[in-house]
Amino acid sequence: MDFSKKLSDLKQQHLHRSRKTVDGAQDTQIIIDGKSLINFCSNDYLSLANHPQVKEAFKEGVNEYGVGSGASHLVSGHSKAHHQLEEALAEYTGQSRALLFSTGYTANLGIFSALRDELDWVLQDKLNHASLIDANHLIGLPLQRYLHNNIKSLEKKLSKQSGQGMIVTDSVFSMDGDQANIDDLQKIANNSNAILMQDDAHGFGIFEPNIPQNSIYMATLGKAAGTMGAFVAGDDDFIEFLIQKSRPYIYTTAIAPAICVATLKSLDLIKNSTQKAKLTNNIDFFQNFSTALNLPIEKSDSAIQPLIIGDSEKALNASQKLFENGFYVSPIRPPTVPKDTARLRITLSANHTQSQIEQLLINIKNAIQ
Ligand SMILES: Cc1ncc(COP(=O)(O)O)c(C=O)c1O
Repeated sequence: MDFSKKLSDLKQQHLHRSRKTVDGAQDTQIIIDGKSLINFCSNDYLSLANHPQVKEAFKEGVNEYGVGSGASHLVSGHSKAHHQLEEALAEYTGQSRALLFSTGYTANLGIFSALRDELDWVLQDKLNHASLIDANHLIGLPLQRYLHNNIKSLEKKLSKQSGQGMIVTDSVFSMDGDQANIDDLQKIANNSNAILMQDDAHGFGIFEPNIPQNSIYMATLGKAAGTMGAFVAGDDDFIEFLIQKSRPYIYTTAIAPAICVATLKSLDLIKNSTQKAKLTNNIDFFQNFSTALNLPIEKSDSAIQPLIIGDSEKALNASQKLFENGFYVSPIRPPTVPKDTARLRITLSANHTQSQIEQLLINIKNAIQ
């Protein structure tokens, strides 16, 4: 196999990806290659990843539980800290039980893995996250995709299915920031032989969870909660079924217990601090100021604010210009987003100042001209 040729092809198509090494903590201000940048591409929406109280809780967790969990949950890796976090997440989401996974990617894979013998078909929104699509393919279930947030398209596909199925959607779409209409989707699921599954990776901690009865809810902890991991919440039987049947749950090491202690503190701050209100204010400010500057930002009430540029090279150049001027905004290109919809994906955090947002938008205006 000629990997060198494959890599140069990617470069030629402006689709080659590279990593930037961040020196220090994840925050609204970061250092890359000695350069200080305002970070507008972190999923740390509530600025909890470097929050003093969350860090303190993490240290206490290390003192009590050590560093590693030592085993999978079903062997000796399920600590009191994991259990307390599961109980707190169940309470927060209003479900009887929650189950921790090591990442959102494995949680999605874990749900599909457990349901492999239960489902005849799956319908997914066209813009669902890659982990949902991969889970579907890797587990080998038949997949069809309906047009983004388009109930008519879903109904049309639904009318051709028979047997037991699942309708799957991101709650907040990861590259667009818009939201699915969970109530409408649940009505459709109720009227057909389908169960609804939502991936709330980008809504958890920011919006109140909307979890209809008998639906499947999954969310991640590496974004607004500022730590890592993911969970599925539901009724006792479904969670117990996952424990028995979900191979990505059974055959992997549990996350470090100290992460759970830190996440318990994050959950407390999600419920009781002003971080959520600060983020909401920043989202409002961003929308008002981008409208005043006539910037073509897509409509989004979440922390994800996309500016679609279309051409991958142009998106890359705009991001590079912003980087030179002290703003880190990653360009998102195919295959992460559909062809010809390369974009700047701006993500807002609670600790951004209005002046940082103002400066960012002025710089974006110059960068895309
Ligand atoms: C919608 C969605 N689901 C799942 C994941 C995967 O979560 P994790 O990063 O915890 O593996 C992501 C991560 O970007 C995501 O955006």
